[in-house]
Amino acid sequence: MFYILDSCHGFCKRRCQSFKSYNLEYFHVQKEVTENGATSYQSVALIVGITGIVGSSLAEILPLPDTPGGPWKVYGLARRPRPAWNENHPIHYIQCDVSNTDETIAKLSPLTDITHIFYVSWMGSEECKVNAVMFQNIFDAVIPNAPNLKHICLQTGIKHYFGLFETDTKSEPHDSPFTEDLPRLNQPNFYHNLEDILYEETAKRGLTWSVHRPALIFGFSPCSMMNIVSTLSVYATICKHEKTPLVYPGTKASWNCYADAVDADLIAEHQIWTAVEPNAKNQVFNCNNGDVFKWKHIWKTLAEQFGVEMVGYEEGKEQVSLQEMMKDKGPVWDEIVKENKLVPTKLENIAAFWFADIAFMSENLLSSMNKNKEHGFVGFRNSQKSFVSCIDKMKAYKIIP
Ligand SMILES: NC(=O)c1ccc[n+]([C@@H]2O[C@H](COP(=O)([O-])OP(=O)(O)OC[C@H]3O[C@@H](n4cnc5c(N)ncnc54)[C@H](OP(=O)(O)O)[C@@H]3O)[C@@H](O)[C@H]2O)c1
Repeated sequence: MFYILDSCHGFCKRRCQSFKSYNLEYFHVQKEVTENGATSYQSVALIVGITGIVGSSLAEILPLPDTPGGPWKVYGLARRPRPAWNENHPIHYIQCDVSNTDETIAKLSPLTDITHIFYVSWMGSEECKVNAVMFQNIFDAVIPNAPNLKHICLQTGIKHYFGLFETDTKSEPHDSPFTEDLPRLNQPNFYHNLEDILYEETAKRGLTWSVHRPALIFGFSPCSMMNIVSTLSVYATICKHEKTPLVYPGTKASWNCYADAVDADLIAEHQIWTAVEPNAKNQVFNCNNGDVFKWKHIWKTLAEQFGVEMVGYEEGKEQVSLQEMMKDKGPVWDEIVKENKLVPTKLENIAAFWFADIAFMSENLLSSMNKNKEHGFVGFRNSQKSFVSCIDKMKAYKIIP
């Protein structure tokens, strides 16, 4: 057995603003080469929710040869069969419903080499119990069987600071910019259940953890339950098809205020950073692009990308719900998919109009990245460019025309 030192320069130059600013020496990875020349993996990831908005970025970045902590072997799971757009990534795909305890134990207990878990999933409902069961099942299936397990990344979000979308219990949201030390709101939130499981299970086993609280995510996945970029792209595509203008469906405040978002690739880099950086262990971190934007500017970009006429917020006009506007457009989307020979998708899966309506009613949801910088994470994205690059990627994969 001997060791080779690999540098991460290629990865940094090609992809990532985050890693290049760190202490590169730390990120030199040790690749074990056995006597017969075969590579064995230094780290083995389990991505729970591999086809989701962040899971698909992790699936792309982790297997790259120069990713910090690597070489990485990657297992990834989701309930649906592996989508064609995910097939190029060198990962081991597992079809599994992790809300089913028996199925999870049967499918995950043979994976004895897992060293890191990236939990980037939710049930599609904010119900606390079912989300807690999903997360607990992962621990119950993996911990007894994976003796080299070291670190668990849990992705939650900034609803930690202002509450769930579906809640009846109203409590005053925190004032923004949100910082990680703000206390829990006094109302049920599945993020609290997930954190409690994380703290308890990792303490019992002497494992390390990190909690990631992203802002609104700009990503590419057509299998996400909340993808604002695919939702808006589909809306713009339908407007173009029907020769109608791209009307802003939100409030005056949301049109004019500063907002923040985070690129899904940046969240993946953030999670990988916590997985390998000792200074980032056992910490909660916000995650955003490090800049702000206004929806009025993004709206112009969206209209340009799809070649449609735009109508911004208009004083005195009644606010229209996007979900209401799009409620009968399933057959129109089917027609667009057929005409343009797109990857088959259903409107209700690729577009979450309810989620866009919430985003366009919101204001003052900025989160602080100071704690990240103090701990050494200085990754960033330009939100305008990030928005466009997600659209470009969906076009390249023929998910939208
Ligand atoms: N999306 C955003 O803009 C955003 C922003 C901030 C915070 N967050 C938070 O981030 C967390 C993760 O959400 P996300 O938006 O990243 O997820 P997502 O894009 O909706 O992806 C969810 C992934 O989990 C899989 N999945 C769902 N239920 C499953 C089950 N029972 N068993 C196995 N796999 C399952 C899905 O695939 P299948 O459907 O095929 O199973 C998919 O791969 C949530 O807590 C969310 O509130 C999201």
